[in-house]
Amino acid sequence: MFFIHSKEFEVKIYYVSEGNDLTFLNDEIKNYAKQVGFEGKANTSFTHLGPNSANLIVIGLGEEDKITTQSIRNAAFEAGKILDANRIKEATLVVKAQGEISEKSVGQCSVEAFLHSAYSFDNYKTKPQEKYVETIGILSNDCNQDAIDEAVDITKGNHIARDLVNIPSIDLYPETLANAAKETLEDLGVKVTIYDKKQIQDLGMKAFLAVAEGSDKDPRFIVMEYLPEGKDKKAITLVGKGLTYDSGGYAIKPAKAMDTMKSDMAGAASVIGALYSIAKQGLNKNVVGIVATCENMISGRAYKNGDIVGSMKGTTIEVGNTDAEGRLTLADAIYYAATKVNSESIIDIATLTGACIVALGTKIIGATTSNQELLEKLQDVAKLTGEKIWQLPIDDDFREIIKGEFGDIKNAVMGGGGASTAAAFLEHFTEGKSWVHLDIAGPAWADKPYGYIAEGGTGVPVKTLYNYVKRNQN
Ligand code: BES
Ligand code: MG
Ligand code: ZN
Repeated sequence: MFFIHSKEFEVKIYYVSEGNDLTFLNDEIKNYAKQVGFEGKANTSFTHLGPNSANLIVIGLGEEDKITTQSIRNAAFEAGKILDANRIKEATLVVKAQGEISEKSVGQCSVEAFLHSAYSFDNYKTKPQEKYVETIGILSNDCNQDAIDEAVDITKGNHIARDLVNIPSIDLYPETLANAAKETLEDLGVKVTIYDKKQIQDLGMKAFLAVAEGSDKDPRFIVMEYLPEGKDKKAITLVGKGLTYDSGGYAIKPAKAMDTMKSDMAGAASVIGALYSIAKQGLNKNVVGIVATCENMISGRAYKNGDIVGSMKGTTIEVGNTDAEGRLTLADAIYYAATKVNSESIIDIATLTGACIVALGTKIIGATTSNQELLEKLQDVAKLTGEKIWQLPIDDDFREIIKGEFGDIKNAVMGGGGASTAAAFLEHFTEGKSWVHLDIAGPAWADKPYGYIAEGGTGVPVKTLYNYVKRNQN
């Protein structure tokens, strides 16, 4: 799908808020709108399409003072679906400011959601679904071609992440994930370095290696460097959990809980997707992506409940539960980010705990931080991107609970607050750096479609990461 600024096609798409008197329509069409009961309510629309028609699609946004960027995305998503259902190849969106949302933002959110309306993961279908929409004209003063292209690049990053999550683990495993990072990013000037098992051993990443040991597929450690400001300037470092499959290991998951565990690399996918958008747009900020990727499997070599393993930091870790594997891989990845990368801040993104889903449901990211201001900046951005972030606590009680009996700390503890104990465990490896942890166990995956999100990987939080870096560029 392509977007061309100012291009006028026959079919026009309008958004209207509730109670809008539709002055832009002639009396005949106004009467028609009345007849079909269209009042501009959210999630309603009316169309006048076909030969001898007004060639119109009008989408309701709901009450004017309640319009958010999400209202716009939902409206554009609906318009895209209507175009597709009517097999219309080209149409023009008339862009105006709506409620509190600026004209530029209305245009950008629309471009994003038109692209979402055409997204489907059909790499594995012998007959992929046909898509009809080819070109959308954007009629706007404020949303120029550059703004349009930015929205396209961000959404492409989101779709890259969705695809990576959706590819099953039979095809997407550490080696192929690392290759995908290289293929996606290297042409954009991102340096991608891939460490194999031997090199990971040399780095001393014993916690990460313990998790990887049970699989026939060797782990990879991926470092992605986007350094437009040169090597000496500090970077925002993004660390993504990269379990290409999480069976639970010997603490094996029940079958139902395993169904979607190819998605346990969604954090890594979001780092790769965000770096794509950041590099494609040429943002002027150093950003480094870090992924320790492996599979959590069962075999004669696999680690077991009760094992005590080392780590790159040197801390010994009691394995209370092999299914709390993400924090072991992240322990070494975060420690690497804190000690081997010139990081000004570290943001880790991880499908880390079922407890976070219990606390916040499937649509909200749980966050913990060592730097309140950094988290609030991210939350501020997230309000516009529609990727909700809610803070969870870490305090000395949680730090106390994770202390080990026979080793220094343990990876799984009883007593509730599982999202916070996991975060307290990660904090141990941050070396006092400015740090935000984003637990995306809920929103990374959609069991069924909602709003402009398709079933499967959601690409969360690519948009927020991109916009956060953009706000902090030099
Ligand atoms: N990958 C899971 C967390 C998860 C659960 C993500 C559901 C998405 C949906 C993680 O590795 C895990 O298994 N966590 C355990 C930790 C527990 C054993 C302390 C959990 O949450 O049950
Ligand atoms: Mg697990
Ligand atoms: Zn996991």
